[in-house]
Amino acid sequence: DAAEKEGYDHFMLKEIYEQPKGIHETLNRRLDENGIVKLDGISLTKEDLEGFNKVYIVACGTAYHAGLVGKYIIEKLAKIPVEVDVASEFRYRDPFVDDKTLFIAISQSGETLDTLAALREAKNKGARILSVVNVVGSSVARESDDVFYTWAGPEIAVASTKAYTTQLMCMYLIALYMGHTKGVIDMELYHRYIDELQKVPDKLRDMLADETTLMEIAKEQYKLEQVFFIGRGLDSAVSFEGSLKLKEISYINSFAIAAGELKHGTIALIEPGTLVLALATQDRLFEKMLSNIQEVKARGAYVIGLAKEGNRDIEKQANRVIYIPDCMDDIAPLLSVVPLQLLAYNIAKLRGCDIDKPKNLAKSVTVE
Ligand code: G6P
Repeated sequence: DAAEKEGYDHFMLKEIYEQPKGIHETLNRRLDENGIVKLDGISLTKEDLEGFNKVYIVACGTAYHAGLVGKYIIEKLAKIPVEVDVASEFRYRDPFVDDKTLFIAISQSGETLDTLAALREAKNKGARILSVVNVVGSSVARESDDVFYTWAGPEIAVASTKAYTTQLMCMYLIALYMGHTKGVIDMELYHRYIDELQKVPDKLRDMLADETTLMEIAKEQYKLEQVFFIGRGLDSAVSFEGSLKLKEISYINSFAIAAGELKHGTIALIEPGTLVLALATQDRLFEKMLSNIQEVKARGAYVIGLAKEGNRDIEKQANRVIYIPDCMDDIAPLLSVVPLQLLAYNIAKLRGCDIDKPKNLAKSVTVE
C-alpha cells in the first residue's frame, strides 16, 4: 500500500498530483501533427454529426459534473443542443431518444449500474453511443458504439480527482472535434482552444508547487460544519464538484448553488460567520459575481473567492482569495477545480477522516 502511494499520505493526494500528466496524455495522444483533434478510431463523420439533432450526456456523481461542463462547451463549439442527466433519473423517465440522438456516457469505472442501464435504454431506442471511460474493456466501454478513453491511469481513492479533469479534457476534445468536422467553428478560435489546453499541465504544476494559501485556509476553517459554494456559468458546474469533494471526504454539510439562484431561497441560510466559497473565474460574469459576494457579505458571510490572477478586484469584496493562472474563460474548470480538491483534502486530513475510503461510499456503485 505504502509503496503504491509513492510517498504521498493518501491515494487522493497522489492522484491530485497526477493530474498534469493525465491531462497531458489525454490531450496529446489525440492531436495530429497539425494540432487537429482525432478521436482515436472513432468514425463520427460530418454526415453522422449533421444527422444528430441532440446530444444526451448521462453519468453519475463526479462524472455527471464533468457532463455539466460538457454541455456548455459542446453547445457552444458544436452548435447542437445538449441535455445532461444523472443516469438514475434518465433511465426511469422515458426520455425522448431516437436514432438522431448522440448519447454520451461518462464513467471512470465503466461499471456503474445506473449508467450502464441508461446506456442500454438509449441503445434500444436507436441512439448512437459514445462513451468516455477510464477503465479499458469495462462494461460501458464494451457496450458502446465508440469509446473515447481518459488517460488518467488507475484511480484508487473513492473521491474522484484525475478522472474528473481528464473527463473534462475529453469534453473539450469532443466539442472541438464535432465543431471542426461540422465546419461550424472558426479555425483561429479552434487553435486558440488547443493552445490554451496545451498550457494547462504546466499551469497546474505551478499551482501544485505552492499550497500555502490552501493550507492556511484549511487550518482556519476545518472545524466548520456548513459551507456554501456559489458560481455562475462554468463556475457553477465546478462549484458542484468542489462541494461534492468536500462533503464526501470531510463530512461537512456542503451545498452548491448557481449564484443567481441564491436570492430565491438559499440566502435565507446565510448568517454571520457562514463560509461561502465564491467561484469568479469567468470574466464575462465577474461583475455579477462581485454583486453576489456583496449580497452574502451584507448578511455576515465569510467569503473565500476563487479568481484568475488578473482579476485582483475581487480582493475588495472577498475576505480571502485563491488565485488560478490567467486563462481563457472556457478552460478555467480544468484549473479551478484543483484548489477545491486540495482544500477538501487538507480539511478532511485535519479532521482526521479516512480520506481514501470515506464512510458509506464505494468507488464504483454496481448495485441499484
Ligand atoms: C461513485 C464514486 C464517485 C463516482 C461515481 C460514478 O459514487 O464514489 O467518485 O463519481 O460513483 O462513478 P463512475 O465510475 O461511473 O464514474
